[in-house]
Amino acid sequence: MKSYEIAVVPGDGTGGEVVAEGMKVLNAVANAEGFTLRTQTFDFGGERYKRTGETLPDSAIEEFKKFKAIYLGAIGHPDVKPGILELGILLKMRFSLDQYINLRPVKLFPNVDCPLKDRKPEDIDFVVVRENSGGIYTGLGGIENKGLPQECAIQIMKYTRAQVDRCLKYAFELTMKRKRKKLTLCHKTNVLIHCGDLWMRAFEEMGTKKYPEVTRDYAHVDATTMWMVKNPEFFDVIVTENLMGDIITDLGAQIQGGMGIAAGGNINPDPGGVSMFEPIGGSAPKYTGLNVINPMAAILAGGMMLDAIGEAKAASRVENGVFKALASGKIKSLSAGKMGMGTREVGDLIAKLAVD
Ligand code: IPM
Ligand code: MN
Repeated sequence: MKSYEIAVVPGDGTGGEVVAEGMKVLNAVANAEGFTLRTQTFDFGGERYKRTGETLPDSAIEEFKKFKAIYLGAIGHPDVKPGILELGILLKMRFSLDQYINLRPVKLFPNVDCPLKDRKPEDIDFVVVRENSGGIYTGLGGIENKGLPQECAIQIMKYTRAQVDRCLKYAFELTMKRKRKKLTLCHKTNVLIHCGDLWMRAFEEMGTKKYPEVTRDYAHVDATTMWMVKNPEFFDVIVTENLMGDIITDLGAQIQGGMGIAAGGNINPDPGGVSMFEPIGGSAPKYTGLNVINPMAAILAGGMMLDAIGEAKAASRVENGVFKALASGKIKSLSAGKMGMGTREVGDLIAKLAVD
């Protein structure tokens, strides 16, 4: 039987609980589709950092390279200063495994409370392709005269043509697989005249030469946030640079019903690339161990992982399971503690419906 090696990083807080439900569903669909997932668990996260001072050692990166994919719960600890785990674990993993795509579907499922008035599932169904390796996230810049009145801080947005092209290629290919085939470039070309010009030229060139079937569209990032609220049905696939993507995907998570259901992938699409999949919400420490956290985001992230490793049928079973569980009306809310059932019970229900 076909088998895949998966590195599991439950992480902090409720991460372990949601990953357990995710694995429950993934194992159920794997069984139905005739493959197995062999997992190895790693304890990177806040607890380990507190114990050993270690975030994500280089040896772990080497170790991860032996796996097909990484499945992550949540990173974030109330006793650890903000920034240490984010940079030391999440960003380190992204950069050292060159996970240059951050993929975030924004999809409204049935019976989900949407903060946008009168919006239905058919209105909100798009994907954000966020560039995940460059831009202002590379740490370029510095501080001069720190603490003095003449102090000056510089943070630089940097993109190479190759970085832009590989991201655009992924976005165009993804758009080609969708019904509407519409790709919106989101940037701020009216102000960021250097990086904006590079993205726009590369977008137009690749679109006209290689993907004439794709309808190309452009929106400034500020206008994008406006359209996401006012007319989310405009969007099919959005491609954007790193920081802008970070910001608009939190808005995206909210219009699809919140962090309880928002999943993401940090993807290295190259042959042999190792990608990481995670619920995009935090570790929710106050809910730890109470069986109240919503596992759906983790379950959907697991589905994205199956898609990325080439198990598309199993992946659509996962999404279908979540769809059917929500359509059944049995789940009262997506918020922790208000679901009308526990974390494990939601996992059981989705696992059952995914293989029905
Ligand atoms: C995200 C997060 C990260 C980011 C942080 C935790 C480094 O906000 O995955 O969106 O800014 O990319
Ligand atoms: Mn973010």
